[in-house]
Amino acid sequence: MDKKATLNLSDGRSVEFPVLGGTIGPDVVDIRSLYGKSGMFTYDPGFMSTASCSSTITYIDGDAGVLLYRGYPIEQLAAHCDFIEVCYLLLNGELPNAAQKGEFVHTVTRHTMVHDQLNRFFTGFRRDAHPMATMVGVVGALSAFYHDSLDITDHEHRKIAAFRLVAKLPTIVAMAYKYSIGQPFVYPRNDLSYTANFMRMMFAVPAEEYKVNPVLVRALDRIFILHADHEQNASTSTVRLAGSSGANPFACIAAGIACLWGPAHGGANEACLQMLEEIGNVDHIGKYVKRAKDKDDSFKLMGFGHRVYKNHDPRAKLMRETCHEVLNELGLHNDRLFKLAIALEKVALEDDYFVSKKLYPNVDFYSGIVQRALGIPTSMFTCIFALARTVGWIAQWQEMIADPEYKIGRPRQLYKGAPRREAKPLEKR
Ligand code: CMC
Repeated sequence: MDKKATLNLSDGRSVEFPVLGGTIGPDVVDIRSLYGKSGMFTYDPGFMSTASCSSTITYIDGDAGVLLYRGYPIEQLAAHCDFIEVCYLLLNGELPNAAQKGEFVHTVTRHTMVHDQLNRFFTGFRRDAHPMATMVGVVGALSAFYHDSLDITDHEHRKIAAFRLVAKLPTIVAMAYKYSIGQPFVYPRNDLSYTANFMRMMFAVPAEEYKVNPVLVRALDRIFILHADHEQNASTSTVRLAGSSGANPFACIAAGIACLWGPAHGGANEACLQMLEEIGNVDHIGKYVKRAKDKDDSFKLMGFGHRVYKNHDPRAKLMRETCHEVLNELGLHNDRLFKLAIALEKVALEDDYFVSKKLYPNVDFYSGIVQRALGIPTSMFTCIFALARTVGWIAQWQEMIADPEYKIGRPRQLYKGAPRREAKPLEKR
């Protein structure tokens, strides 16, 4: 039987809406006809109860701490797949077999170089510019270079743009880093895996050969897997909204990067490390926890809490494991900030305020520590997140363009400004 929802208005009118069911997860009330039938809009700032689209890519059950990419639990993907297989999965809907993976790797690898003129964009930025500022500019500029992949109505163009973005983001992130420290750019190497190649472009110098450490490559690869997609989060919704006007994919991803930069979203791991530095040592934890609980203080414990996960963040558990592996490999268990982070985690997990508000460490609490151990500077953390999330953004953008129900995104508002009034000429004001 078709499910329906009825809205009874205080003026006696009643309006009926279809209720749509997904494969799993909450049903949605389809209110598209609400304005036409009642002359009213819904009001939902922050989209607390609004599904903005239908999607087959990622599923989250925040209460149960479940995250699925295309139906596969994140724990299994983290254990059995590498990032490039996850990219294939997000873009194509299925995990690749060996031949499909080989072909995919071949194509991605052949797109890793960037147009040589793009190098000059970097030199236009101050060396002390935040690398995310550079990223927004350079990724947006890709649309000025790759004209043969800008026709969003052409399936082949969309496919090439997807390959280019997945392949070139590591190169661009590494270039942003190298530029910021005044070292020469390192060109990609096709015989290395996606993640090993990225680490080499980040850390190699022309003067000596770079040795790839498989434990560290695996750790970074896991960071990429865990950040690859996360349903309709702020930056993904930004990419969809930008793309809904027909904007080209490079411009849309640049918009996503801009949104990701904020400290409430992708900037959290950077903010978390800065917070740990500020706390300084274990003796000061109490003071900062007290501040985080104070309603009159805007300070929040960075790396804690999540809009959707109200039980635990499944990515945080995996990242915690990786964190221990990396610190063991590098002999860093006595690292000052790591010890501080573990002590802070313990205090917060036992504190009534955090327990009652269901504020648990999120993935970024641990990913910052891992990245720091890998030698990635704090200012690059959000760029790493952007690199990983690009495939999710592109998969979501592709899905939107191919969706027959796709329309330009155009929310409405509750207007609380001045009612109509007369604008007097200057001499009469
Ligand atoms: N420290 C102290 N109090 C907090 C925190 C925190 N980290 N997070 C939430 N609260 C409090 C908040 O003040 C509010 O209290 P009250 O009910 O008294 O008003 C209550 O908990 C509910 O929080 P909210 O801000 O209404 O929840 P939200 O869903 O709007 O925000 C969040 C989620 C992630 C933006 C927020 O928890 C936060 O700012 N956390 C710190 C930043 C962070 O770690 N962000 C990374 C998220 S994971 C990576 C990603 O997906 O981008």
